Amino acid sequence: MNVKFGIIGFGFMGRIHEEMITLYLDGAEVTAVCDILPKRLNDAITPGVQKFTSVDDLLAIEEIDVVLIAVPNHLHLEMVRKAARVGKDIICEKPAAMNVTEFDEMMAETVRCGVHLTVHQQRRFDKGFQMMKQAYDDGLVGRPYTIQSKLAGYNGNMHDWHVYKKYGGGMLMDWGVHLIDQMVWMMGCPVKTIFADVRSVVNAEVDDYFKLLLRFENGMTAEVELGTYFLKDDPQWYTQHWFLGGSKASAYCDGFTPEYGKLTTTRRLLTDVADKCDTSKTGPTRSFGTPDNDLFDTQLLPPATTEYIDYYQNYLAARAGREEYLVRPEEVREVLRIIEAAHLSAQTGHSVTLN
Ligand SMILES: NC(=O)c1ccc[n+]([C@@H]2O[C@H](COP(=O)([O-])OP(=O)(O)OC[C@H]3O[C@@H](n4cnc5c(N)ncnc54)[C@H](O)[C@@H]3O)[C@@H](O)[C@H]2O)c1
Repeated sequence: MNVKFGIIGFGFMGRIHEEMITLYLDGAEVTAVCDILPKRLNDAITPGVQKFTSVDDLLAIEEIDVVLIAVPNHLHLEMVRKAARVGKDIICEKPAAMNVTEFDEMMAETVRCGVHLTVHQQRRFDKGFQMMKQAYDDGLVGRPYTIQSKLAGYNGNMHDWHVYKKYGGGMLMDWGVHLIDQMVWMMGCPVKTIFADVRSVVNAEVDDYFKLLLRFENGMTAEVELGTYFLKDDPQWYTQHWFLGGSKASAYCDGFTPEYGKLTTTRRLLTDVADKCDTSKTGPTRSFGTPDNDLFDTQLLPPATTEYIDYYQNYLAARAGREEYLVRPEEVREVLRIIEAAHLSAQTGHSVTLN
């Protein structure tokens, strides 16, 4: 029997959820959608879908198994509580909560009610990220030591509730949640220290730029940067850049939905540098001298075959006990903890140690 979904909040993301489930997901269907703005409900594409302007009316439908929460961030806790109390399992949009305290309340409520909660972190299936993760997991760069994830928007595209603090706006809460989640999931170990620059470049109250340096317990340093106002004469609205550096190779890819990434090695890797001082014309080091021709070998990284539908497929498989749920509460909590530490670091100008 199909798993039946109810969607709360039928704006940008609510509509995407409906489309993914109705058009592309086997074994599931959208039973009802809800939005306080009646005109939004006209966008529904599912034949026979029930439409509500009251959350309580949607939650009263007994056959709904799972509620997808896609309202602005400040309403997530309230909606999770309501859904949990009528026994619905929940997929909540990211960021799950406004802060760690709220998330803990959410988890306590779902545990108390005996329902399952997970969070829509579908960007774990981004192709650029997947290629980097594969290169990292497979040890393609040798001993990795640094990783960069940079996302730049070229036209300052922040809007609606995203520019107000009280609704959970700001770019750390929006994109930061994805970019940090990707790093935390890839490293698979805790962040020890964080240094952050978080700015409101043109917005009155929320951050529209951040740069984070995360030092992980495994010794890796991750740099995560996002700019919404990197103005550039480019037909693309935004671009993304990944770089993974290791002792034997570098892996990298560019573009928002890159079809390929690259892996570059050198034929003259200095593995055992002689202990002597040799002075050249340009000074005591030639580290940045012009390289010889044909010094580098570059090959394409194995392509990523992931799609966002994989998130929902994992969810259904996990419900049926065939797989583990992709996104675990402790990972969600860790990302929120890092965001709080980033704000603290930016305010104080010091790095913050997490324990
Ligand atoms: N996973 C992703 O990639 C991704 C992408 C975009 C947005 N999101 C998340 O999805 C959520 C919604 O973002 P969005 O961009 O769709 O916002 P949106 O403003 O486009 O849609 C939110 C909808 O919620 C409705 N709403 C507000 N209060 C309500 C209430 N009490 N009851 C019912 N409906 C109510 C609004 O009328 C609106 O239609 C946010 O948490 C956001 O962070 C996730």
